Amino acid sequence: MEDLINKIDKNKLPSHVAIIMDGNGRWAKQRNKERVYGHQHGAQSVRNICEIAAEIGVKYLTLYTFSKENWARPKQEVDALMQMLIYYLNHEEKTFMDNQIRLTTIGDTSELSIETQEALTTMMDKTKNNKKMTLVLALNYSSKWELVQMVKRISEDILANKIKVLDIDEDTLANNLCTKDMPDVDLLIRTSGEERISNFMLWQIAYSELYFTDILWPDFSKKDFCEAILDYQKRERRYGKTSEQISEEK
Ligand code: IPE
Ligand code: IPE
Ligand code: MG
Repeated sequence: MEDLINKIDKNKLPSHVAIIMDGNGRWAKQRNKERVYGHQHGAQSVRNICEIAAEIGVKYLTLYTFSKENWARPKQEVDALMQMLIYYLNHEEKTFMDNQIRLTTIGDTSELSIETQEALTTMMDKTKNNKKMTLVLALNYSSKWELVQMVKRISEDILANKIKVLDIDEDTLANNLCTKDMPDVDLLIRTSGEERISNFMLWQIAYSELYFTDILWPDFSKKDFCEAILDYQKRERRYGKTSEQISEEK
């Protein structure tokens, strides 16, 4: 493990890593267990990945925790996920403090239960001065919802004469998303072998490197995270330029 961490180039770290944590249900099914059993084990992966990301020096880690579409799951599973979230928030203070992690969220948290909202605000408040890494939980999040909110906000600013249509630029849009003040995603990881975006951060991943692995989320380890970072560091981010131009800039 230490060997792997030492191989990581600290000068070429992704500032923002986002993860679509997928495969809890299949992990449980492979063991003839209920889906909830997979989610419980997935929580341990969350802890591990937060620790290693902070240790390596990643500044922002966004975890897709519950999508707007996930409300369509059986009520029993949704209820269990929400209960687990509250439990996690109420028991993870030590992880957050020991690793200097600041907690925040993206998504429509106003639709979550009062108990969940309280657990969130309590932990966000307790961790607000932590400086090493920001952990962003995407909760009741979907990218199309976020884009609609953004358009509404900008439209209101136009109607209130705060901005002119002609002045709208990319920053105007970015500053009206849940992720304002965060860097764009450098590396997007999805576990479980699915290769799709599932309505996650469409704007923010415009130039992200994508990393798909067959490993199911409850099995995704610190070592696997380091391997994803090493894979990212092998890539050349060209942003439209040629490879030769990039080499000359170095
Ligand atoms: C990801 O695992 C966790 C959430 C979406 C909350 P899944 O529950 O989607 O697992 P699979 O895709 O059914 O295996
Ligand atoms: C995406 O996973 C949402 C989260 C990880 C929270 P899903 O398992 O719900 O995605 P789809 O529906 O299979 O694309
Ligand atoms: Mg899934």
